[in-house]
Amino acid sequence: MLDKDEFRSALGQFATGVTVITTLDDEGQPHSMTANAFSSICLDPPTVMVCVAHGTHTHGYLEKTNRFGVNILKQDQQDLGAYFAKKPEDRTGGVDFHYSEAEGRIPILDGSMVFFGCEVLGSHVYGDHTIYIGLVKEMRRNESGAPLMFYNSRWYNPSAD
Ligand SMILES: Cc1cc2nc3c(=O)[nH]c(=O)nc-3n(C[C@H](O)[C@H](O)[C@H](O)COP(=O)(O)O)c2cc1C
Repeated sequence: MLDKDEFRSALGQFATGVTVITTLDDEGQPHSMTANAFSSICLDPPTVMVCVAHGTHTHGYLEKTNRFGVNILKQDQQDLGAYFAKKPEDRTGGVDFHYSEAEGRIPILDGSMVFFGCEVLGSHVYGDHTIYIGLVKEMRRNESGAPLMFYNSRWYNPSAD
């Protein structure tokens, strides 16, 4: 049996980019959650996946809307990555962001490096997470600047180390 803390720590050695998953809440308002359990699947059909914990609001909203956006963050959006990792009731103060709207009313987090607008093609429940497979219906790119990264349970800037 693996030690849970050791396992978490070993997984943290996998450096990732950081996304914000956008969807609509029960009132039809934009809702966002920071996520790094994101991956591409196929080029044809264009598919991606994201792994969402059952304890999140995003999980409940995704189950209803069947649509989500993936917003790949830039390094200068670290404050947004931290903000959308908090519980909604703790998201207070001083963070400036705006949404635009993609096809299917999926919220776009303005200023992100890349946006993928996805329709849920399928999902797989495992333990306390659901893996959502998204068919990418729309893509927007704005790639000036460096990507935000996460490594060893921290924000990571390779050029600063
Ligand atoms: C760098 C980072 C990556 C995260 N990745 C995920 C993830 O892939 N899936 C997930 O369910 N939660 C992830 N989280 C935690 C959620 O962002 C957090 O639980 C958030 O409060 C959920 O928001 P919601 O309840 O409003 O949906 C991550 C947090 C951080 C800081």
